[in-house]
Amino acid sequence: MTSQTELHKTDIVAPARLDTQASIHELLVNRRSPRAFSEQRIEPAKLLSLLEAARWSPSSANEQPWRFIVATKDDSRVFSVLTESLVEGNRRWAERAPLLILALTQSTYTKTGTPYRHSWYDLGQSIALLSVQASALGLAVHQMGGFDAEKARQLLSIPEGFEPVVVFAVGYPDQPATLPEHLQKREVAPRSRKLLQDFVYTEEWGKPSSHLQTQSSLLTPPSTN
Ligand SMILES: Cc1cc2nc3c(=O)[nH]c(=O)nc-3n(C[C@H](O)[C@H](O)[C@H](O)COP(=O)(O)O)c2cc1C
Repeated sequence: MTSQTELHKTDIVAPARLDTQASIHELLVNRRSPRAFSEQRIEPAKLLSLLEAARWSPSSANEQPWRFIVATKDDSRVFSVLTESLVEGNRRWAERAPLLILALTQSTYTKTGTPYRHSWYDLGQSIALLSVQASALGLAVHQMGGFDAEKARQLLSIPEGFEPVVVFAVGYPDQPATLPEHLQKREVAPRSRKLLQDFVYTEEWGKPSSHLQTQSSLLTPPSTN
């Protein structure tokens, strides 16, 4: 096993090659949620690009329910509110990131006032696009549900009708050695997922879909180096 001190630059980006069942884009292979963030500032044009990616996300009735409260370390009051709203286990590593964003979503449709059943779904999707854009720019995103939404609501004067959903950290990944010891192992552990067979069905609930039996070159697992 590689020791922390032997980690190379490539290990920062991808600690272990993914155990994929089919070929996927490198941006997705490299995307992950690190805890070791460099203090390096994010270029303003890159920040704008992340937000633009979220802006072009699809949403139910094109409602675009997402709202983002964006704080770099220069926005010291808001940055402090966001770090203080995090649970201790998240705050420890997230406060080093150069950018924190509170993501909120609208609870009802603007036109009808009826409950917006897909609101959280649409917000999540916008952050997914933002995360892939981040991956393309060499940045990483780590979303956190572990924060006090009511505290954030009060201290940031969030109006009724909007729900704080996650805080996410954005920045350049750093060496795992910059983390407290107990987090270093998690940082370099291989990312894992359920198998496709566990959640893709066609003929019967719980039975792996026959579409997964395809033997195409696309399904040849990529090499593991
Ligand atoms: C809605 C949501 C909430 C999350 N909350 C936390 C959190 O509070 N703390 C944390 O360390 N990671 C959190 N994560 C990150 C997940 O643990 C992470 O995405 C998952 O383990 C998969 O790892 P990967 O993103 O590197 O593939 C959250 C992710 C999402 C999407």
